Amino acid sequence: MQTVRLGTTGLQVSRICLGMMTYGSSTWRPWVLDATASKPLVKRAVDLGINFFDTADMYSAGESEVLTGKFIKAFCKRDEVVVATKVYFPVGRGGGPNSQGLSRKRILHAVDDSLKRLGMDYIDLYQIHRFDTQTPIEETMDALDSVVRAGKVRYLGASSMWAWQFAKAQQVAKEQGGSRFVSMQNHYNLAYREEERDMIPLCQDQGVAVLPWSPLARGFLAGNRRNTDLPSPNAGASERPAGRAANSKKAKAAATSTSRALTDDIAQSYYYRPSDFQVVDNLTALAADKGVSNATLAYAWLLHKGVTAPIVGASKLPQLDQAAAALEVQLSAEDIARLELAYQPHPVLGHS
Ligand SMILES: NC(=O)c1ccc[n+]([C@@H]2O[C@H](COP(=O)([O-])OP(=O)(O)OC[C@H]3O[C@@H](n4cnc5c(N)ncnc54)[C@H](OP(=O)(O)O)[C@@H]3O)[C@@H](O)[C@H]2O)c1
Repeated sequence: MQTVRLGTTGLQVSRICLGMMTYGSSTWRPWVLDATASKPLVKRAVDLGINFFDTADMYSAGESEVLTGKFIKAFCKRDEVVVATKVYFPVGRGGGPNSQGLSRKRILHAVDDSLKRLGMDYIDLYQIHRFDTQTPIEETMDALDSVVRAGKVRYLGASSMWAWQFAKAQQVAKEQGGSRFVSMQNHYNLAYREEERDMIPLCQDQGVAVLPWSPLARGFLAGNRRNTDLPSPNAGASERPAGRAANSKKAKAAATSTSRALTDDIAQSYYYRPSDFQVVDNLTALAADKGVSNATLAYAWLLHKGVTAPIVGASKLPQLDQAAAALEVQLSAEDIARLELAYQPHPVLGHS
């Protein structure tokens, strides 16, 4: 497994990051795996050389952090792995207005709660899950700097927001003489490329690591999703034009109704447009030419676009091998153009 510097820091992370949102409790999302089912997947990731793990306090209402801590303790040396978690959204139900967002009070509580659940005495990368418009950014950046200075956090990162908000936060941190964000975890994949407009050029200019979430568009790019997987929140299945990938003989043969395909309504609301299915068709065709899976090729495309490490979600062991295989795939400018050809702009998805 190759490693790479996290942005301009001295920290080395594997070029594949394991997303821990898939592991926790199915009471949070029906497709989430429990501890017993998750353990072999995390072990395989470690055996493949993955040293970078991404969770969040809100995933499975804290259970994802608990499992992340347990598995890392079981399989890794703490000083060799990079553990990332996040703060912003409420953890579970029933919290009041101070149990969410990025106030000083919230951040100071949340970091301690995450450390307890992880069973660790520091977090490598502490990320704000979104921008908090209800808290002055000066307060947020000062509170984040204080958890770094307290030794609870090594580096700060951010996740989906507008590029101007990210630039403002970085400027405020600079003016305060505090820690700045070293990474941006954003929504970026072959079916959602709006980040190419502002955020990615900003990160590249500033030496900020880019860590794309949902690199397979929540499984949509794998080629086994159909527009009949589950009823769309906005339209009945029969009202949506069928994409070619959904109807082609090959796609039908490959189609498997996984738990996530049948229950992940966020995927259905983000993707599943005719032009998105066309993107999958082109991906499937080039993957066949190259003798790799759609997933491997979709990750390889991201790695060729200058990202630091895609954050992969894996629910089955071979999916991890197919992620690692992406590091061996070489793409020409022509291949990349072919993969990008059918893309049609989307509304902003993942933050507002
Ligand atoms: N910052 C944020 O706001 C944010 C938002 C979302 C996610 N994330 C992070 O990003 C991570 C990944 O997100 P994600 O799970 O949505 O990522 P993803 O990689 O886009 O989707 C993962 C799904 O793709 C399918 N898949 C994976 N490899 C495959 C393969 N080789 N062949 C066929 N299907 C394959 C699996 O679906 P099946 O189970 O159906 O097989 C799997 O559950 C999360 O764990 C989390 O850490 C962050």
